[in-house]
Amino acid sequence: MVARMKGKSVQASGICKRYKSFFGRSSTILDNISLDIDAGDIFGLLGPNGSGKTTLISIFSTLIYPEAGSLSILGMDARRNRNAIRKCINISTAKPNFPWSLTVKENLRHYGMLYGLHGSALSRTVRDQIDAFELGEFQDHRFEDLSTGLKQRLSLAKAMLNHPSLIFLDEPTTGLDPDISIKTRQLIRRIHEEEGISVVLSTHYMPEAEMLCDKIAFLRQGRIVALDTPHNLKRHLALGERIAVSYQGEADLAALEEQPGILGLKAEKGRVEIIVDRGEESLDGIIKLFAKAKITDIAIKEPDLEDVFIELAR
Ligand SMILES: Nc1ncnc2c1ncn2[C@@H]1O[C@H](COP(=O)(O)OP(=O)(O)OP(=O)(O)O)[C@@H](O)[C@H]1O
Ligand SMILES: [Mg+2]
Repeated sequence: MVARMKGKSVQASGICKRYKSFFGRSSTILDNISLDIDAGDIFGLLGPNGSGKTTLISIFSTLIYPEAGSLSILGMDARRNRNAIRKCINISTAKPNFPWSLTVKENLRHYGMLYGLHGSALSRTVRDQIDAFELGEFQDHRFEDLSTGLKQRLSLAKAMLNHPSLIFLDEPTTGLDPDISIKTRQLIRRIHEEEGISVVLSTHYMPEAEMLCDKIAFLRQGRIVALDTPHNLKRHLALGERIAVSYQGEADLAALEEQPGILGLKAEKGRVEIIVDRGEESLDGIIKLFAKAKITDIAIKEPDLEDVFIELAR
């Protein structure tokens, strides 16, 4: 594993972006975004449709300018050092589009040349990425014939051609089957760990953020509404653990609500979901209240980011 880099991959302060509509009305897409991302981290941008994730990634990757705010990428000012930054970063977008009639290998060579590679260095780099992303058996397939998962993998391979220190991945697994998503996540983790690359990714899929990200920012309507590690996000919102008890017969639900450490409960016939401060310590007291009933199933579930997301979206 490559040693973690020091410093910041992204330092953004007061970033604002507005778009004018056809009728001249302007709307705020990003509203005063301030954000520091540690170099070496995998950082997740989460948020509902239209919350500004892609716009923010486009600004961070120097594709568009913000109207206000300051931005530094890998320690370089985004306005003054755009070309230098672009040499050290790369991006893979949600719906990758490459020249349709070129094969996987031809596409990678094409992009490699755009990045200034030629001769044996170009051939070696293309071969390395084909190997790293397990594209060998598809290298002579045309882009238009590739599955969505393979297009995404080609796009990741392309993003590695210039040996970036920082990559931006906009929805890297959206539209992929679960098993292909797992593979893509493993590849992201591998390039992050083996090459020591900083990653900023956007996703809708909470378990993905939880699995991959060191830190997460929740965006809502162009603002950051929470920013922390997945663990702290869950802890600070005091979401508690959920104990789901299925039972037959009578349970003393009124007494259950009085129990210390109970944050809430949802009851339906024969099943109750209890939200508690600390699951295992409360378990004994909870089970006693089912003395007259027959417990048929009991499950303890940690809160997941989905719960955080629902809470923040309120
Ligand atoms: N070029 C543009 N002109 C006008 N409005 C735009 C433009 N690009 C994005 N928007 C608007 O900005 C808002 C944020 O869009 P953005 O694509 O950044 O959101 P997102 O979080 O990536 O959404 P999704 O989850 O659907 O990908 C949306 O309301 C969108 O309609
Ligand atoms: Mg988007």
